[in-house]
Amino acid sequence: MATMADVARSAGVSVATVSHVLNNTRPVLPETRRAVLDAVEELGYTPNGLARSLVTSRTRSIGLAVSAISNPYFTEILQGVEAGAVAHGYGLLIADPHDDPAHERRVVQLLHERRVDGMIVAPSADPRALVAYLERHRVPAVFLDRVVDGPEDGGPRFDQVCAESTGPTTALVTHLAGLGHRRIGLVAGRPGLSTTHERITGYRHGLAAAGLPYDERLVAHGDSEAAGGARATAALLSLAAPPTALITANNAMTIGALRTLRDRDLSVPGDIALCCFDDFPWADLFSPRLTAVAQPSKELGAEAVRLLLERLASPDRPARTVRLPCVFAHRTSCGCPETSEQPAHERTLP
Ligand code: HPA
Repeated sequence: MATMADVARSAGVSVATVSHVLNNTRPVLPETRRAVLDAVEELGYTPNGLARSLVTSRTRSIGLAVSAISNPYFTEILQGVEAGAVAHGYGLLIADPHDDPAHERRVVQLLHERRVDGMIVAPSADPRALVAYLERHRVPAVFLDRVVDGPEDGGPRFDQVCAESTGPTTALVTHLAGLGHRRIGLVAGRPGLSTTHERITGYRHGLAAAGLPYDERLVAHGDSEAAGGARATAALLSLAAPPTALITANNAMTIGALRTLRDRDLSVPGDIALCCFDDFPWADLFSPRLTAVAQPSKELGAEAVRLLLERLASPDRPARTVRLPCVFAHRTSCGCPETSEQPAHERTLP
C-alpha cells in the first residue's frame, strides 16, 4: 500500500507538502499541487484514517442510535443523516437500541468506545441511563425525534430536533370534528415518549377546540408498533359506544389498525373514518387513500447532523431544540371525497 512518503518521493516534495495539499491546510503552488495529486492518482494512495485519528483525536465519524430502523420513518431519517454526514466528510456507525433502556446504554457505550466524534440518538422512553452516560463522558450528542426535558430552570442539556406533534394532531381532530364526528378514538404510542405525550396533548386540544368532551376510554395505547396498534384498535371497537373515527399516532400502528378493521369487515371510511400520523410512499395506494400527517423525516436527519457539527465546532454554546413543521396529506380515508386538486390539499401544519 502506498504511503504518504511514497507520494512525496514520487512528486519530489516533502511529506509536509503532501499533507498540506491533501488537507488544504496551507496554500501550495498550483504546479506542486498538481504534481502531488498526480502522484496520489498514479500510486493509488488512500489516506490512513486511523493514523490521522491518532494525530487529531477525531475519527470523522458520527454514531447514530435509532430504534426500529426498518420503520420507513426512521429509514428516511437515516437517509437524511447519512447524506448530511457524507457531505461534510463524516462516516456513520449505526446501532439499534430496540427502544430498550439497558440496550440503549450498551450501544451508546459501544459507539463511544469506537470514538465517534458525536452521536445522534432517538432516546427510549426511559433515557436516564443514556443521559447519565452522555453527560458523564461529555459526549457531544443530539437527540432526535423524542425530546427529553432538561432541568426545570436551565432548559434541555442537549441539542434536540423533532417534528411538531401537538399542532398536527389537533388539526386531525379538528378535521374529523368538522366532518361531524363526535367520538374520535386515538391509537396512542408507547407511554413515556415525548411524541406520544405531545400527540395526546394535541388530541385533547382538538377536542376542546371542537367543544367535545375528553373521554379517556377513547385513548388506547398501541406501543408504537403494529401488533399494539391492532390490539388498541380492537379495544376501542369493543367499547359500548365505539368511535366513529380513528386517529393512529404512527405508521406502524396504522398498519395494525387496518388489520383489525379488515378482520372485522369494517370499511373505511364508510364504517369508520381514519386519519394517521406518518405518511409513507404507499399510503396513497390503499383504498381509500390514507389521509395522513407527513413528518419531514429526511430534514430531521439533516438538521440533526447540522446541530451536531455546530456543537463540535462550538462545544459551549447553549443547547437548542429545533422543531420542524409537518404537512397535511389530505386524501380520502377521513371521509372526504376524491378531488383532482391534490397539491392544494397539502398544507403545512402548525
Ligand atoms: N416517533 C415519531 N414518529 C414515528 C415513530 C416514532 O417513534 N415511529 C413511526 N413514526
